[in-house]
Amino acid sequence: MSASYLSIQGLIKTYPPATGKGKPVVVVDGFDLEVEEGEFVTLIGHSGCGKSTVLMILAGLSDATEGQIALAGNELRGPGLDRGIVFQSPCLLPWMTAFENVMLSVDQSKTDWPKAKRRDHAEKYLSLVGLSDALHKKPAELSQGMRQRVGIARAFALTPKLLLLDEPFGMLDSLTRIELQQVLLELWTQERMTAVMVTHDIDEAIFMADRVVMMTNGPRAKIGDILTVPFERPRVRHELLENTEFYALREHLVGFLEDMHHPQPASPVSV
Ligand SMILES: Nc1ncnc2c1ncn2[C@@H]1O[C@H](COP(=O)(O)OP(=O)(O)O)[C@@H](O)[C@H]1O
Ligand SMILES: [Mg+2]
Repeated sequence: MSASYLSIQGLIKTYPPATGKGKPVVVVDGFDLEVEEGEFVTLIGHSGCGKSTVLMILAGLSDATEGQIALAGNELRGPGLDRGIVFQSPCLLPWMTAFENVMLSVDQSKTDWPKAKRRDHAEKYLSLVGLSDALHKKPAELSQGMRQRVGIARAFALTPKLLLLDEPFGMLDSLTRIELQQVLLELWTQERMTAVMVTHDIDEAIFMADRVVMMTNGPRAKIGDILTVPFERPRVRHELLENTEFYALREHLVGFLEDMHHPQPASPVSV
């Protein structure tokens, strides 16, 4: 078994044909990735290439057709509280407050802790995402950005081995998005959890990551290239935006994604 913290080897995902007839669709075909403990990896690729498919398999919410996945030395099977998941919009129970929504996860995952410790823990993460003043508000009283803050607090409060984020800021306006990237990055810098985040925003992919994993287009998508992001942490957005190296990385990513849109023929075309 591999020594890396998260090991994905030979992952294949096939969906049955939509109509029940025809051929099964091989969406992901041979996705291999080794992630170190405490590493932040972003996953980028064109819409429909299979990013969410990979993430859902890591979350245990979908089965791999083939392949081996290990987390912290154990084969990964099914969903579990060792993984915190943040989706585009958080599924919060509408009749519960922000605090109660986070407590729900804490109660489930920290069963041997006394109540007071669990409450402090939930409060700590809500205050770290900037919601100290909104603990007792219900989702309907919160903006979309605040709801996503609750979702982030809830995922971190599990203190999971692996944090999985699927376009967590995809629904937010650009200012809120930048604000929440910062919140997530600060929290992550403090906790250093191993994280895999799907995004289709190139700047976000670079800003957040230690490595950017680029997926080829589907069907039969796999990893096309991996970019190591050399910038030290903590990172300051405006400093990165003044760094020529940032633009070189950006060009590399744009180039990859553009090539995916206009693939070169595999063999010379005869005329
Ligand atoms: N449950 C499913 N059944 C059949 N096809 C699916 C299912 N989920 C996703 N797909 C297909 O798999 C491909 C990859 O989807 P997805 O992983 O959601 O892509 P991405 O997140 O990169 O946009 C798409 O072509 C999509 O239509
Ligand atoms: Mg997706």
